[in-house]
Amino acid sequence: MIVCHCQNITDRDIDAAIDWMRASDPATIITPGKIYHALGKKADCGDCMPLFLSTMRSNANIEFPATLRALRDGQARGSRP
Ligand code: FES
Repeated sequence: MIVCHCQNITDRDIDAAIDWMRASDPATIITPGKIYHALGKKADCGDCMPLFLSTMRSNANIEFPATLRALRDGQARGSRP
């Protein structure tokens, strides 16, 4: 399914980019911009962002790294004044 019509990016392209980024760096934060960059493309109009984001969220490898989840939950705040 085409997700981004401007750049002809499919849901499979997005999944492949996410899987590749997660395999390359388990701690990376994956953003739409990084996916465009990994695919050698650049966002144009941005109309695809809602579908682009929901496609990203449906990939099991999109989860934040455990260390960042701890920050969000306030578990790692004890190290700073
Ligand atoms: S539809 Fe994706 S940038 Fe335009």
